[in-house]
Amino acid sequence: MFLIPLLALAPQANIEARIDALLKQMTLEEKIGQMSQMGLPDRITPELRKEMQAGRWGSIYGWGKSANRAELQKLAKESRLHIPLIIGFDDIHGYATGLPIPLGQAASWDPELVRACTRFSAKEAASVGVNWTFSPMMDIARDPRWGRIAEGYGEDPFLASAMGVATVQGYQGTSLSDPDSLAACGKHYVGYGAAESGRDYNSTWIPEGELRDIYLKPFEATKKAGIATYMSAFNALNGVPASANPLTLRQILRKEWKFDGFVVSDYAAVHELIAHGVAADGAEAAQKAISAGVDMEMVSQEYFQNAAKLVKDRKLNPKDIDVAVRNILRIKFRMGLFDGRPQPAPATDPAPTPESLALAKKLSTESMVLLKNNASTLPLRTTGKVAVIGLLADNQSDQLGTWSSADSKYSVTALEALKSKLGAENVIYAPGILPPKGGRGSDAEVRGILADKNTDGFPAAVQAAKQADVVLVFLGENGNMSGEGFSRASIDLPGAQAELVDELAKLGKPIVGVVMAGRPLTFHDTTQKLSAVLYAWHPGTMAGPAITDVLFGDAIPTGKLPVTFPRSVGQIPIYYSQLPTGRPAAAEPTDHFRSKYIDIDFTPEYPFGYGLSYTTFQYSKATASASSVKMGGKIVFSCDVTNSGHFNSDEVVQFYTHQKSASVARPVRELKGFLRVALKAGQTKHVTFTLSTDELAFHNAKMKLVTEPGEFEAWIAKDSASGTPVAFRVTR
Ligand code: BGC
Repeated sequence: MFLIPLLALAPQANIEARIDALLKQMTLEEKIGQMSQMGLPDRITPELRKEMQAGRWGSIYGWGKSANRAELQKLAKESRLHIPLIIGFDDIHGYATGLPIPLGQAASWDPELVRACTRFSAKEAASVGVNWTFSPMMDIARDPRWGRIAEGYGEDPFLASAMGVATVQGYQGTSLSDPDSLAACGKHYVGYGAAESGRDYNSTWIPEGELRDIYLKPFEATKKAGIATYMSAFNALNGVPASANPLTLRQILRKEWKFDGFVVSDYAAVHELIAHGVAADGAEAAQKAISAGVDMEMVSQEYFQNAAKLVKDRKLNPKDIDVAVRNILRIKFRMGLFDGRPQPAPATDPAPTPESLALAKKLSTESMVLLKNNASTLPLRTTGKVAVIGLLADNQSDQLGTWSSADSKYSVTALEALKSKLGAENVIYAPGILPPKGGRGSDAEVRGILADKNTDGFPAAVQAAKQADVVLVFLGENGNMSGEGFSRASIDLPGAQAELVDELAKLGKPIVGVVMAGRPLTFHDTTQKLSAVLYAWHPGTMAGPAITDVLFGDAIPTGKLPVTFPRSVGQIPIYYSQLPTGRPAAAEPTDHFRSKYIDIDFTPEYPFGYGLSYTTFQYSKATASASSVKMGGKIVFSCDVTNSGHFNSDEVVQFYTHQKSASVARPVRELKGFLRVALKAGQTKHVTFTLSTDELAFHNAKMKLVTEPGEFEAWIAKDSASGTPVAFRVTR
């Protein structure tokens, strides 16, 4: 018989009693200390030493030496009640081995692989004393101007939920108390991605039904997956800042979802309640944030400076303090911090391993989306000379993308990988865009080197192209053009890159574009001059080998877009799951008064879910197991998918539904499932999706979650804009 060792079970089983015991002994100051987080300092001063030993801080976070993490943890454990620190870090997409930016990870539609990659990332971070990460970011983003679209999983709640859950499972492993598990932190709770006009930190206006059905979905999914913490966002949501929002923090998170982990504010977001105009001073900011349910304050010190007095003045309920501290301690207990979880000895950052590099390369490969491939330009078969043009082909930092902790010295660039595949003598490199003068911190550097309009590098690039059989041009954004605070009003190719392609195109040679970027870009005219376009996002440490494999067919592109690509910024916000209108646009409108533009097509440049392959797939025989299903029942949809081309490859098969008539209008399509199907050339597989009627639920006008009977359509399709609908009915 298998016996659960009692000793291992006991500490976890008694958590609430152990918290009760601690709370009884804690002073108000010690409690507020637990609710306070500081940035990891460079130096541990005698004052800080004393503060740690006095239980002044519950958490530290950020960049710095692991020796300081270890020392501060030791000091905290020497405090009167021996309460350990929870130690945070922004391990966003690979701690030491750079993974694709999360938006690129979402393009893989491969949660299994994302989970595996996140697992090694957790181990890397844990080895230097981190035990908590501020990831995953699950902000639904439908505006590519917003720089932080790079950090999330795109526009769709179903895909973002799958990616968010996989990421949480990767960090947290099978047990939070494993020394190589990190507590995950879902952010930014909530609505941050809907910033008006795509400007970071801007207000968001989201009707409650949309909030619940779209923006909250991935957060709810990760709650069900056991996520340890959330981060309250910077934005005001419908006029109430997310870091002092009782509806989202108390009502939804605690009452409805029964979340029992803790909430940390975003960076100084408690203090910023003053600038938001909802608190007159720091005391009111602390009072509002604590009352709303923000358990821990990041960086600003309004809690520590004001909370004790607020309690004494009866402006704050001491029970709210106890609840917050209980939530924090509960996670510390679950992490095994009180039960001998070792704080790693000081160590330098680990180097990537062959295993981590192989997995990272696989994810980079799978993240790439083939947008165009005229006359099967790709895969390349050349044995001749290849011109490699563009700064991004040979920049170890840019390929890592925003918010990367990976050391760029391990990055393998495309130029390096192409040279090792083809022989250095067969690769002719020219950056095309020269780094502007000005150096570190200059305006050009801050805006991104590629934003420079200088064309001095063009002649050498044209010269290189002349000598080659194939031209590979690397286009896009520097790694620092997306991410926090890096919103753009134009999402065209920055600087003189479009003009560079114009020059190269005059030679009449096939040009393959590889785009590295942190967001969808608008580059329609440039695309017309390219024979093939591979969208690589910022692919991480293994960008070079992954791109090279895809270009030469050693890996077949399978990525599909996690976000709609607009033709023009004027179409933003643009997303596939829009509501129908009374006057829908049509390819061939019968009259003028339709929901469209007079100057450009209403359709996107590339729809959500889109991505080509080197092979072709045919979808046929779409059918449902029944024409109607009773409420509470299940119905199975199926179709045949045939690999009708010449390469073995996976295909990401997508499943969408639409309710034709309901009490409130329903999106024209909603993703309800996806499958990665491996198909040999010529092979056909029967693909099925089982739908339960609960999955059709939405929030009605009274904010009740309901499934309403009626007529529906379902599609099994290669993207959100194709496929043949199958009709079905839901009955009472
Ligand atoms: C960002 C968060 C991040 C935090 C800590 C903030 O500026 O919005 O996403 O986790 O800083 O670094």
